[in-house]
Amino acid sequence: MLTALRSQAMCGIVGYAGARSALEVVLNGLRRLEYRGYDSAGVAIVDGGVLQIEKRAGKLSNLEKAIAENGFDTSAGTGIGHTRWATHGAPTDRNAHPHVSVDGRVAVIHNGIIENFAKLRLELEERGVEFSSDTDTECVAHLLALELTTHTSAQDSTTLPEGALAAAMRRVCQRLEGAFTLLAVHADAPGVVVGARRNSPLVVGCGDGEYFLASDVAAFIEHTREAIELGQDQVVEISAAGVTITDFFGTPATGNSFHVAWDVSAAEKGGYDYFMLKEIAEQPQAVADTLRGRLTETGEIMLDEVRLSDQDLRDVDKVFIVACGTAYHAGLVAKYAIEHWTRIPCEVELASEFRYRDPVLDRSTLVVAISQSGETMDTLMAVRHAKEQKARVLAICNTNGSSIPRESDAVLYTHAGPEIAVASTKAFLTQLVACYLVGLHLAQVRGIKYADEVAAVVEQLQQMPAAVEAVLGTMEPVRELARSLAGSPSVLFIGRHVGYPVALEGALKLKELAYMHAEGFAAGELKHGPIALIDKGTPVFVVVPSPRGRGVLHDKVISNIQEVRARGARVIAIAEEGDAAVEPFADHVIRVPRTPTLLSPLVATVPLQVFACEVAATRGHDVDQPRNLAKSVTVE
Ligand code: G6P
Repeated sequence: MLTALRSQAMCGIVGYAGARSALEVVLNGLRRLEYRGYDSAGVAIVDGGVLQIEKRAGKLSNLEKAIAENGFDTSAGTGIGHTRWATHGAPTDRNAHPHVSVDGRVAVIHNGIIENFAKLRLELEERGVEFSSDTDTECVAHLLALELTTHTSAQDSTTLPEGALAAAMRRVCQRLEGAFTLLAVHADAPGVVVGARRNSPLVVGCGDGEYFLASDVAAFIEHTREAIELGQDQVVEISAAGVTITDFFGTPATGNSFHVAWDVSAAEKGGYDYFMLKEIAEQPQAVADTLRGRLTETGEIMLDEVRLSDQDLRDVDKVFIVACGTAYHAGLVAKYAIEHWTRIPCEVELASEFRYRDPVLDRSTLVVAISQSGETMDTLMAVRHAKEQKARVLAICNTNGSSIPRESDAVLYTHAGPEIAVASTKAFLTQLVACYLVGLHLAQVRGIKYADEVAAVVEQLQQMPAAVEAVLGTMEPVRELARSLAGSPSVLFIGRHVGYPVALEGALKLKELAYMHAEGFAAGELKHGPIALIDKGTPVFVVVPSPRGRGVLHDKVISNIQEVRARGARVIAIAEEGDAAVEPFADHVIRVPRTPTLLSPLVATVPLQVFACEVAATRGHDVDQPRNLAKSVTVE
């Protein structure tokens, strides 16, 4: 039966050819890529004319245990490995990668979805191939084996002719539809790993007499920082001798060479119990790095890549921000800044909803896509839809050369460094900074703000790393509070203006990490329904705006605090230093430094991250890899 079990849409993959133990290199690489999925893992090592294969459901440690028990030969220098996040098809041993051809000679790993797999599978079954998994990937293993039998002349040696596996991969790729990164090894091609890519990431790491293939440079930066990003529809072959890149038809190609700026310590926990704690602590640095060097000598804001003219930006009459998850919350904050500074109407939309409601877009619409990974499929699809409708697209992204910035007309990279914990923290703060910069850039190009006004806001932004650092220095009472509230059935978060997205983000963090019922509301909306949720002792976080800003906002929030307090809520206020008005009404006050209202999410979010992280740890959860989630979701 042809069930549409397309099983591995978002995964981490790694390949190695060189003189080291491929098993060790591949397992270390997978450890760094586990953030891309952790439902199952597997390896294939080419060793003296045979493939050694091991694969297991569950986290990498299960695979490592199985390998230790089965006594792998660890000296062979060619191998591939995979870590999977299941979309369709159960995360079982049987569906784990690698998948092997019927003759047992070809092993394949895959990230993506092969959309025409049902047709291919039928064709293969008609030719007598028996499938041993429910995956689309397995088709590729069988197709490669068949191509090799058809096109490779009878051998007197047991070694495949040079280039034969890559040639077979090219022919197979011509038949595939959908999105894929594929890696393949062959028992009779020792020393060779072949890769292919369409709509899914693949980078080559270039060492000295050794080469790597991976979905992300984090997999190999401990060995080399020299990398080549493959272009669309390219096939690559690596061996100890070098790297050969072609398109799917064999025409030589080059890919994009680059030097990786992070070092290996950036991808490790640096002494913290969890990546998330490390990443929360890195926020002042990440904010500073994202701001660094943004002002030209003449006081203009600089984006990283601009394929748009100033006139294009002057013509913009509408801004749409599209993003998912935490990045969407950054977009909600950006709306306040962009509308306030540019006077252009700005809407924020969940990327997954955007194109399905047929938004009104044309040449004068600017779509801002925010994504840490640059690979989130919902956001990528929104970008493609916007481009089809001739809108201009500007990406805010943390991952160099990923799909979303590549397909956009302009890019501003956040410099958060690698974010490994699934729950986004430092990426969020840097997305906020990038949004402010985009708002200022637009205002400047359109002549609404002069260079000195822009410089004044940049100056305020430059105070923010110290402000975030100050918040981080006062988090012990928040952790204590988290421990005392870890058993609460429900926690609510309310805020107004930019405090509203902060409330949403606080609730999202608690949901994803602590698996607790948590909701964020616009404080004014509470009385229209959600206030009924409040019971005696229900914790309610209130993001209190600055009393120095628009006074009316502050007064209204104080009234909201009184409303929830009157219904028995336990009020935890996040309020500016010196704001005495909250004290009589709050059970706990978490102080944050004074900041301009629009920039306040940069400080107000931090205690909520710390709170969620501590609640999750107290409840005994895996903070970095919460259940059911993945860091980068490359399916719609
Ligand atoms: C996933 C992650 C979230 C993240 C969202 C958007 O759902 O779990 O933490 O905010 O994707 O990711 P992006 O890479 O596009 O920012």
